[in-house]
Amino acid sequence: MTKRQAPRWKELAPLLRPAPRTGTRADRAMQRLVNVEDLRARAKRRTPRAVFDYVDGAAEGEISIGRSRDLFRDLEFVPRILRDVSNCNPSTTILGQPSSYPFAFAPTGFTRMMHHEGEVAVAKVAQRNGIPFALSTMGTTTPEDLAAAVPDADRWFQLYVWRDREFSINLVERAKESGYRTLILSVDMPVGGARLRDVRNGFAIPPHLTLRTFLEGATHPNWWINFLTTEPLSFATLNALTGTVADTADQLFDPSLNFEDLMWLREQWEGPIVVKGIQNVDDARRVVDLGASGVVLSNHGGRQLDRSPVPLRLIRPTVKAIGDDAEVYIDGGIMNGADVVAAVALGARACFVGRAYLYGLMAGGERGVERMVELFAADVVRTMQLLGVTSITELTPELVRLPNEH
Ligand SMILES: Cc1cc2nc3c(=O)[nH]c(=O)nc-3n(C[C@H](O)[C@H](O)[C@H](O)COP(=O)(O)O)c2cc1C
Repeated sequence: MTKRQAPRWKELAPLLRPAPRTGTRADRAMQRLVNVEDLRARAKRRTPRAVFDYVDGAAEGEISIGRSRDLFRDLEFVPRILRDVSNCNPSTTILGQPSSYPFAFAPTGFTRMMHHEGEVAVAKVAQRNGIPFALSTMGTTTPEDLAAAVPDADRWFQLYVWRDREFSINLVERAKESGYRTLILSVDMPVGGARLRDVRNGFAIPPHLTLRTFLEGATHPNWWINFLTTEPLSFATLNALTGTVADTADQLFDPSLNFEDLMWLREQWEGPIVVKGIQNVDDARRVVDLGASGVVLSNHGGRQLDRSPVPLRLIRPTVKAIGDDAEVYIDGGIMNGADVVAAVALGARACFVGRAYLYGLMAGGERGVERMVELFAADVVRTMQLLGVTSITELTPELVRLPNEH
């Protein structure tokens, strides 16, 4: 029988330690969010439903995005033991430029709608942490304003080629003149994907007030106040828009874009060109032969063709086909730093992250994006150490086993 005694204050007192109070209340609220799922839950509470769904959603049955996340969940890490992992360095280079971690911020449109701090907040976090930031053609901050706000960030400009070629060239010129280093050409949107949540929500860009959105606004007053009291959403590159994002894409983007256009673009831009939205090895090889310095294996986070290949599975065959001729990146469904480590071990030079930072932004503006990076950075380092490696170059395919590939 366990012998019991009455609790004595002398023994209890040292156990009663209030949690240390550091930072502001908002900082402490962020510290309590311990993964991207937590950031997502807070984002959902703080943002009107149609806006949250625009970010969170994907195309058709949302199968591709689910498969990407499932594969990250189902892979196995194969750690090495008894390695000295006391000093671990997660830094790498991306197209020759140092990057503190092997991940970067993917281009996302309409970012100032998710949170009024918008692209500038995200890019400041990128600059502070030494990782690349890609500004979308559909950005809500002009290339010039963003460059002025983050002069030292590694800035990439993402291009959709427009039906109006003069307009496309003008965009490229603006990016060049404001010091963007890399052009990232997105090729997976010849037409807009069928994003059913947007259709169901009647989601238009910019959001307009219907009775439903007005009533919903009452449950997200801060978002609406910020939205209505900051500079109106005009886009870096376009003005009067109506309809869903897919409608906009259909009106503006050129569905006749082809490999010859890539050669044309090559002549317009002296710096590196990265082609984003590659979904098979042959296309990767072909764009590299035409001068691309990098390819992003991507199905646009499942927002375009549903049931398209899972990018993680394409890394190894693509790396095999293009060798050292270009860098290989992936994106889609990356929710933590361990996902990044797995992709890098399989051969990716780096990963692009979309929704994860947008959840951070919607959850808490710049501070929320910073929290996302903090969480990813800690994951990357810890996962490397637990795998028994201390540098990015030691991450090799033997450390990861994909299901059905033994
Ligand atoms: C809200 C949102 C807007 C996006 N806008 C663009 C865009 O303007 N241009 C582009 O090339 N990709 C765009 N993407 C795709 C991302 O660059 C990236 O491929 C995708 O988000 C990766 O998947 P993840 O969100 O699961 O990380 C967007 C993605 C989201 C979620």
